[in-house]
Amino acid sequence: MELRYEGKVALITGGARGIGYAAAKIFAEGGAKVALVDINGELVEQSARKLAAESGADVAGLRADVTSEQDVDTMADAAKQRLGPVDIFVSSAAILDEKLFLESQLSDWRRMIDVCLYGPMICLHRLLPEMTSRRYGRVICLASDAARLGQARLSYYAAAKAGVIALVKSLAQEVGKSGVTLNIVSPGATNTELRQEREARMRAEMGEQKYARRTQSVLRVYPTGRIGEPHDIASAIAFLASEQASWITGQILSVNGGYAMP
Ligand SMILES: NC(=O)c1ccc[n+]([C@@H]2O[C@H](COP(=O)([O-])OP(=O)(O)OC[C@H]3O[C@@H](n4cnc5c(N)ncnc54)[C@H](O)[C@@H]3O)[C@@H](O)[C@H]2O)c1
Repeated sequence: MELRYEGKVALITGGARGIGYAAAKIFAEGGAKVALVDINGELVEQSARKLAAESGADVAGLRADVTSEQDVDTMADAAKQRLGPVDIFVSSAAILDEKLFLESQLSDWRRMIDVCLYGPMICLHRLLPEMTSRRYGRVICLASDAARLGQARLSYYAAAKAGVIALVKSLAQEVGKSGVTLNIVSPGATNTELRQEREARMRAEMGEQKYARRTQSVLRVYPTGRIGEPHDIASAIAFLASEQASWITGQILSVNGGYAMP
């Protein structure tokens, strides 16, 4: 089954790198026009140029902070003017931060919920009305298995992502008849810059020997014997964004090498 996206416009927040960029690449290679959106303006422009050169697709790189209604408004207008109305929306923008709950501050919670829950909510509030009125849309929000299972030291990240799951399921019910589907992709550990930055911090804190033992114990809980690559997650996003997935909505697809089978 070949997935094609000709005539479609895909907008991806957090698209400058990682899983978002990997999904954008599949859309661009499949014939879509693509808007990469990211808070990192320099990187998003660089990534848009790279993707356009590699795929030959029409790609726009737009700087926006998903926590700002004004940024999201301006970015959505710019994407529509440059590429046309959005058919596929992928919410991949996120931050990661870890602390024991009792060491976390209210400001940690506020920042996380701002980016990881209000961010997708603000984007959906802006993009969903046009999708429902055009009677077509594919929405995929990235959550995390930390939200499904809980994870020590990630309480506020897991809580924000659990909020996204509830948001997506609720909206899938509200707009089910409109031709718009909304689903969640829930990755396990995936080898992106986000994870590499976290691993580098851990390695520095733990020292080489302890870090090597930890790496082995992480791999042991993955039945497939490896962590994910961005393309593994992007392939699931690409399927849920396709025409073929029109009867799938309100679902959570864990893409995690068998780490958990909830
Ligand atoms: N990598 C993993 O192991 C993993 C595991 C589970 C879930 N996830 C989820 O998958 C998604 C993608 O993760 P990734 O590993 O590719 O991350 P990443 O850090 O490589 O990419 C995220 C992008 O989001 C951007 N961003 C951050 N804050 C933003 C904001 N306020 N506005 C706009 N853009 C912003 C960053 O600049 C970055 O380019 C995230 O939602 C993440 O929570 C990742």
